[in-house]
Amino acid sequence: MNSEYDVIDCKRADYPEGFLFGVAASSYQIEGSRFGGCGASHWDTFAATPGNTATARGEDGSVACDHYHRWPEDLDLVRDAGLDAYRFSMSWARVLPEGRGRANEEGLDFYDRLVDGMLERGIKPFATLYHWDLPAPLADLGGWRNRDIASWFADYTDVIMRRVGDRIHAAAPINEPWCVAWLSHFMGHHAPGLRDIRATARAMHHVLLAHGRSIQAMRALGMKNLGLVTNFEYAAPADDSAEAEEAARLYDGIYNRWFLDGVFKKSYPEEVLAGLGPHMPEGYERDFDIIAEPVDWVGINYYTRKLIAPDGSGQFPALKEVEGPLPKTLMDWEIYPDGLAFFIDRVHRDYAKGLPIYVTENGMASADRLAGGAVGDPARIDFLNRHLAKVRQAIDAGVPLKGYFIWSLLDNYEWALGYEKRFGLVHVDFDTLQRTPKASWHALKEALRSE
Ligand code: FCB
Repeated sequence: MNSEYDVIDCKRADYPEGFLFGVAASSYQIEGSRFGGCGASHWDTFAATPGNTATARGEDGSVACDHYHRWPEDLDLVRDAGLDAYRFSMSWARVLPEGRGRANEEGLDFYDRLVDGMLERGIKPFATLYHWDLPAPLADLGGWRNRDIASWFADYTDVIMRRVGDRIHAAAPINEPWCVAWLSHFMGHHAPGLRDIRATARAMHHVLLAHGRSIQAMRALGMKNLGLVTNFEYAAPADDSAEAEEAARLYDGIYNRWFLDGVFKKSYPEEVLAGLGPHMPEGYERDFDIIAEPVDWVGINYYTRKLIAPDGSGQFPALKEVEGPLPKTLMDWEIYPDGLAFFIDRVHRDYAKGLPIYVTENGMASADRLAGGAVGDPARIDFLNRHLAKVRQAIDAGVPLKGYFIWSLLDNYEWALGYEKRFGLVHVDFDTLQRTPKASWHALKEALRSE
């Protein structure tokens, strides 16, 4: 059935035994936060706040894909594509509506059934404890600015993992600390929508402290296979000036090295501390032993590169993004597979040193074509092929790369951009909530069953 344009090039025989193909998703983006006794998260309140930068068309995740009720159909789609693993997240607000204290039994039952549903279908559960849906009552207490969040998060980890931890194949505390801290507290694009350097410095540190405390909590429960998932953007100087070079290095420090340095080197990049230092919580260095709690694997989320130039403001970080020349996705993100190769190599060489590495997110938003009940997405297929080629190269070069997860199973709530940007292998009609596998889903299924 495949033409040369809709073939995904990932024959199992080309990958080592046990290599995992998976898809990734997150609770707030698909579940529907109004169902099942879930508490409000700061995404619900952010979307409902008029007049701030908030979300496109005021859209929120209150219904999203209604995965809360339709999860059996969604897990069937994972299984039927021939995928081995599903990277999902658990909503803190669904488990603990106030963020602390009383647990929502319905929420615990939901994740219990979901995990069992994966196991019944032969799908390995890769759990994320926090993919951005912070309970609103904790946001009101300062959220990631408040050092207590590390303890709140460790307690939440204990509650949910006591219930499902015995059946989780792999777990990571926090998805993309850069987004939790910088994107949300410095750039103001995501909840809580702040543009505040002091809040940012605190969030940049507390997010790692919470990571470490959560790893400790899971170890205490006897859980294994615990990881760190960070996102990376390849930072290229916008021109060949020394200033652009320096700006790109700073961007790389903030985005890519801060979190890895913290966890693997018990330090933060100097050039970033030059700006954040005065705003850091006092005595932050004493937390590095917790932050550096050993992990068992590293997850790389990768989408794009950025061209960086100085902005001339003289005010930290004094840099700006410049539009690049490469073909772009619907997010306006340049398609740059070499960046994935770069980060796999960097994480392996400079940080993880022998630990298993997973690509935990990679994918694109594209303008899919709906015709006669079928959905064509040739650009996505091409994107996946070009990135999978880098995965194979890394394996050939001896990197212990153990799996590749596509973002995402379903079209879903793309945060501040609402429902317009479609990343799914499966199309979702947001009026009827009907799921229709796209050409990429069919191509993947075909590829994964070939030897
Ligand atoms: C990642 C997020 C995910 C989704 C994709 C497009 O940064 O983890 O939730 O928004 O980008």
